[in-house]
Amino acid sequence: MTVTESTNAKLKASRSRQHAMYARAVQSMPGGTDSNFRAWGEDTVYVDRGKGGHVWDIDGNEFIDLRMGYGPVILGHGDPRVDDAVAEAARRGVSFSLTSEEEVRVAELIKMMTGWVDLARMTVSGTEATMHAMRVARAFTGRDKIVKFEGQYHGVHDYALISVLPNDVSTLGDRDNPVRLAWGRGIPQAVSETVVPVPYNDLSGLRRVFERDQHDLAGVIVEPVLGNAQGILPQAGFLAGIRALCDEYGAVLIFDEVKTGFRFARGGAAELFGVTPDLATYAKAMGNGYPAAAFGGKREVMNMLPDEVSHGGTYAGNRIAAAAAVATLTILNETDALETICETGKAMQRGLTEILSRRGIQHVFTGHPSMFGVMFADRIPTDYRGWAETNHELYDAVAKGMIERGAMPEPDSREPWFMCEAHTVEDVARTCEIFEASLQAALQEKVPNCCPACE
Ligand SMILES: Cc1ncc(COP(=O)(O)O)c(C=O)c1O
Repeated sequence: MTVTESTNAKLKASRSRQHAMYARAVQSMPGGTDSNFRAWGEDTVYVDRGKGGHVWDIDGNEFIDLRMGYGPVILGHGDPRVDDAVAEAARRGVSFSLTSEEEVRVAELIKMMTGWVDLARMTVSGTEATMHAMRVARAFTGRDKIVKFEGQYHGVHDYALISVLPNDVSTLGDRDNPVRLAWGRGIPQAVSETVVPVPYNDLSGLRRVFERDQHDLAGVIVEPVLGNAQGILPQAGFLAGIRALCDEYGAVLIFDEVKTGFRFARGGAAELFGVTPDLATYAKAMGNGYPAAAFGGKREVMNMLPDEVSHGGTYAGNRIAAAAAVATLTILNETDALETICETGKAMQRGLTEILSRRGIQHVFTGHPSMFGVMFADRIPTDYRGWAETNHELYDAVAKGMIERGAMPEPDSREPWFMCEAHTVEDVARTCEIFEASLQAALQEKVPNCCPACE
């Protein structure tokens, strides 16, 4: 049997246990999961374990993991360097609501690796980190409004859930005067009125907002890449332009580095793109999957804490998270893990390019090799609205086929593939085989709006 024939065969293993678990879970959990993002109906995956770059579901099906828990597992599942440090720390007690040396070390590592953060505080999630950073910006400036960019996801607090990820981009309104589109019900109108959406990469639109709202604008929160549209990159001068506008109007610039921090470079996207914000938020890669997160920034802004801005949390800086962060950040700082991950991503992109070019399928890569997307389009979109013009129906069909064949990207064309240090050369080769077989199957099914190759 040739390699392609073997990958053409869909997973034979059953999903019977998962279907039974789904039927059981929906009796006691909305959607059968703890997060809307994992609620895939009958396709909801119930996981058993992970190791390195692989994950197994409760039916025993094995997958090359390209989601890596939505990004945090940067070294690989079950990395003994991190897990041993956590286990050892946990034996001394996990939760005191007192401060441990590990927490101090985390802040020191963040300062050292970014080179610009003066003060940092740990939180439990990225959501808490962006919520507090936005509050600090409002307190520092004495103004209420914050600009966010369409399609950017900053977590699930009310101020973040405006103009995030609609399937129908027309609901975002006129691009020169976007509406404040709340994601779901329950977000107070008064809250959404403090959030000003602007299309990503639209510097002139941002300037217009500054000219209009200058006395009310506390700051701009931006994920340096559009992480929830496969990592669409900032155009030349975009981040520096935001920096200049914030300086001109006395507003605070917040980089949401929850996905990019300690992944794109030791100093995150700020280092990679050479633009320094006033505040930044970190999470995912800093804990290799343990719930470690932080926000930090320049001393004059962070000095709003502890006296003038509320921040707390029973679990903030808990020992499990802090020990994981010390171990993970130390590895990322002292080894060539990031370079390895980047090379793995480039090898994956070369493999995919070879397959797609052979078939004459137009495609572009977005993001950074360690967190990249492949879009079926003739050019890279510049903003979230542009994602809708890519052939995401074809992508979704390929991603679904990949899961059926043993590699698991997110079955949503907006989420990038995440590489980890533990992904091997064999994982790359096998993923490419699975991708090719899934592409072939999707083309045979003639996905609507496809490409010349399937006409
Ligand atoms: C850029 C960004 N900010 C914030 C968050 C929220 O982080 P958390 O899920 O830890 O609350 C996420 C989560 O995916 C994210 O990608």
